Amino acid sequence: MDRLLPLGLAGGAAAVAALMDLGANPVWAWVVVALVAVAALRHVGRERARERAQSDSVDQLYETVDRWAAGHLDSRVYLDTDDPLDAIAHGMNRVAEALEHRTEDLVRDRDRLDAILANMQGGFVIFDRALYVTLINRQAEELFMVAPGEALGRHVLEVVRATAIEGALQRATLSGRPESVEWAPNPREDLLIECSVAPVRDPGGGWGAILMTRDVTAQRRLERMRSDFVANVSHELQTPLTTIIGFAETLSDARDLPPEQAARFIGLIHDEARRLSRLVDDLLALSRLEHHSLIARRDPVAVGDLLGAVALQLQGRAAAGGLTIHVSHPEHLTMASDADLLREVLLNLVSNSIQYTPPGGRIEVSAAVLEPHVVSLIVRDTGIGIPPDDVPRIFERFYRVDRARSRQSGGTGLGLAIVKHVVEVLHGSIRVESTPGQGSTFQVDVPGGPLDPDVMEAAPPT
Ligand SMILES: Nc1ncnc2c1ncn2[C@@H]1O[C@H](COP(=O)(O)OP(=O)(O)OP(=O)(O)O)[C@@H](O)[C@H]1O
Ligand SMILES: [Mg+2]
Repeated sequence: MDRLLPLGLAGGAAAVAALMDLGANPVWAWVVVALVAVAALRHVGRERARERAQSDSVDQLYETVDRWAAGHLDSRVYLDTDDPLDAIAHGMNRVAEALEHRTEDLVRDRDRLDAILANMQGGFVIFDRALYVTLINRQAEELFMVAPGEALGRHVLEVVRATAIEGALQRATLSGRPESVEWAPNPREDLLIECSVAPVRDPGGGWGAILMTRDVTAQRRLERMRSDFVANVSHELQTPLTTIIGFAETLSDARDLPPEQAARFIGLIHDEARRLSRLVDDLLALSRLEHHSLIARRDPVAVGDLLGAVALQLQGRAAAGGLTIHVSHPEHLTMASDADLLREVLLNLVSNSIQYTPPGGRIEVSAAVLEPHVVSLIVRDTGIGIPPDDVPRIFERFYRVDRARSRQSGGTGLGLAIVKHVVEVLHGSIRVESTPGQGSTFQVDVPGGPLDPDVMEAAPPT
């Protein structure tokens, strides 16, 4: 339309010239035509410039769109305010801004989700309705032993390889109801994994599912230990009670029992009642220790005095068993600890040595500073020793290598369990070396000493 304007003007000028009958006056006619021609040429020039400017603007718009497509959503396009495309540029900038915010939100959400998935305790997998993996975290990849990123887009059977889990997923996606199964991964059989399957609406219709795994090995072990413990306690209580009831009935039924036999039965009842009482004491001690209600003191403890007192207390029993106790320690060794708890540990260990060392044996009770700030209390005997397979278990409650022998000597099998807990309260550690037929060494390392640093050099070689 604009292009027709100069032609129109020229035509108009010619018409005006004709009307004015300027043919008689050719000079005027040429002046009019020339003026019109100049005006028309200027107009065409302006039009060309405007077209060039517009095509520059379009190029700028294209370039900006390209930059956005390349991910640079922060890029903006600015045109002259009188440019007819300026309004479009403004609109595009606003869309880009909205997109930028939205993308930031999405990135933040994705980062949060990644952080949650990476820091979850267990595995997490999302399946679509055909049971193909659409999302999986690192823990699940490790559990199902697939390389990072390899499970994505794979079918459950290629990833999980456990029919119990696959069955739970199938049922959940068919019924839309949650499922839960326990799974013991084959190569590591001591592991027990609880798998919870929750159905989720699949974007394509029907049910997909979320699988979450939780390692319940420790929990199940604890539950088993608890029920074993109850069974053990019941058994331990039952045995002396049966004896007590049996002899008490015999005594009350047979009134004409010879006095020496009656005295023996009463003695047995007494022994069993004492055993019961010791068992209850030990159980209470264990329960106190397990509930962490005990806090170790940090008083100065003269280690030599402590060892001497323990040896003195058990001297009589050792002598009765044909054993000798030898005490050795660095001179003036003091430590910051809890004398009562340390005594409890040593009494239990030395009692065991007396109990499990045949007559003629030797028991050494010593202290040494083998590493800075730690005092080692060592009880060594020449006793029957402990078979290697039993060593890891002797700190379990009620565990006895030879149940009959231990019971005979009045043991409850709680001594070392108590020792282990007391050592924990003292923030120490305990270790055992034992050779069947040759003897055992129990070493308890307790922090808190020596209070006098010179004692370190005085530590005897062991
Ligand atoms: N010095 C040792 N030599 C050989 N065996 C030992 C020694 N100390 C412990 N044991 C073994 O470890 C088991 C557990 O010891 P623990 O002290 O817990 O129980 P116990 O001595 O049988 O009974 P309790 O200490 O409750 O009277 C013992 O039954 C014994 O088999
Ligand atoms: Mg014992």
